Amino acid sequence: MSPSSLLAVHHHLLAVALVATTLLLLAGAGECHGAALKAHFYRHSCPAAEAVVRDIVLARVAADPAALPARLLRLFFHDCFVRGCDASVLIDSTSRNTAEKDAAPNASLGGFDVIDTAKAVLEAVCPGTVSCADIVALAARDAVSFQFGRDLWDVQLGRRDGVVSRASEALANVPRPSDNFTALEANFAGKGLDVKDLVILSGAHTIGVAHCNSFAARLSGSGPNSAGAADPTLNAAYAAQLRARCGPAPAAASNNATAVAMDPGSPAGRFDAHYYVNLKLGRGLFASDAALLTDRRAAGMIHRLTRQGYFLQEFRNAVRKMGHVGVLTGGHGEIRRNCRAVN
Ligand code: HEM
Ligand SMILES: *[C@@H]1O[C@H](CO)[C@@H](O)[C@H](O)[C@H]1NC(C)=O
Ligand SMILES: *[C@@H]1O[C@H](CO)[C@@H](O)[C@H](O)[C@H]1NC(C)=O
Ligand SMILES: *[C@@H]1O[C@H](CO)[C@@H](O)[C@H](O)[C@H]1NC(C)=O
Repeated sequence: MSPSSLLAVHHHLLAVALVATTLLLLAGAGECHGAALKAHFYRHSCPAAEAVVRDIVLARVAADPAALPARLLRLFFHDCFVRGCDASVLIDSTSRNTAEKDAAPNASLGGFDVIDTAKAVLEAVCPGTVSCADIVALAARDAVSFQFGRDLWDVQLGRRDGVVSRASEALANVPRPSDNFTALEANFAGKGLDVKDLVILSGAHTIGVAHCNSFAARLSGSGPNSAGAADPTLNAAYAAQLRARCGPAPAAASNNATAVAMDPGSPAGRFDAHYYVNLKLGRGLFASDAALLTDRRAAGMIHRLTRQGYFLQEFRNAVRKMGHVGVLTGGHGEIRRNCRAVN
């Protein structure tokens, strides 16, 4: 062998070793729980993925712009807060297991059929490739963005689907509307989200509705801050309006049929900073909304957030962070064929 061909072999071996090391490192990263998600994860494996979800979601939202964006955004939140964003919220109960969606905080979750439709099309186009968890993340973004005609935030992809869904975990992890600031901060901290994330993500309550049983405790004397009267942190005129809608105290507490807008004074589906305007006026609907005024750090953020541009910019960052909570990547979890059941 001539010296030059020896050199070539040597270079070749070096290259092979480098490639092998890189592959090992990549595989290692892929195995890691919480490895990075990335933009356009399906660019090669399923190029149509993002467009398919967008087309289906936009068509459905066009037919129901006031209610559907709120449903899909809340679905994403509940998914991410229980076992991470792994589509566990979509799994149906079986004879042997009561799933997250059948826990009390589920009441009024919706949008499942939109996810099912997107999944069915994607399974036909690229079987076994696109996770239900990524569909939920995309659907929330696309639905809320509809009214703006542009994407409000970027969605990193590559989540995989979990195989466990337990009602007890929804009860333990989804914050309650009666929670005080200490409880909310601790809950969010458990997901790697800070006080700023809590204040900004609560702004999601600019769209959608709540049922009387979620806030009735603030109207009568049974709330944590009240003794025989309405919660004193609730604006009196607003409390009177809510009482008129929900009915007298004992019945209101179990009234899950009457829905009220969560951001009165702003059109039902409009995603805007008006939630914070209401908050400042004592018109935060839940005790958990009003609680944001009880912490110095949180309260100090509210005024700036009444500016639309600032709210949208900050929401973009916070919702992206929420979408990374506890994600399964690489070899963890699975790609469910049917979002309602593990494979
Ligand atoms: C901070 C703690 C939170 C609590 C205690 C809470 C609680 C609730 C409750 C009780 C409802 C009404 C359920 C009903 O009565 O039907 C609701 C609705 C909603 N929540 Fe939250 N939530 C919180 C944070 C979030 C976050 C972080 C998001 C999303 C980023 C979100 C998005 C929504 C939306 C969009 C609705 C309206 C749903 C609809 O109209 O179908 N919430 N929330
Ligand atoms: C929510 O959970 C309750 C049980 O707590 C169940 O009876 C109800 O059907 C569930 N609702 C939905 C929409 O899944
Ligand atoms: C609403 O309340 C009724 C009776 O109180 C109950 O049967 C029903 O399951 C509840 N619906 C939801 C969605 O929680
Ligand atoms: C907040 O609520 C928890 C229960 O969830 C309670 O133990 C705690 O004392 C409350 N904190 C304040 C400051 O009210």
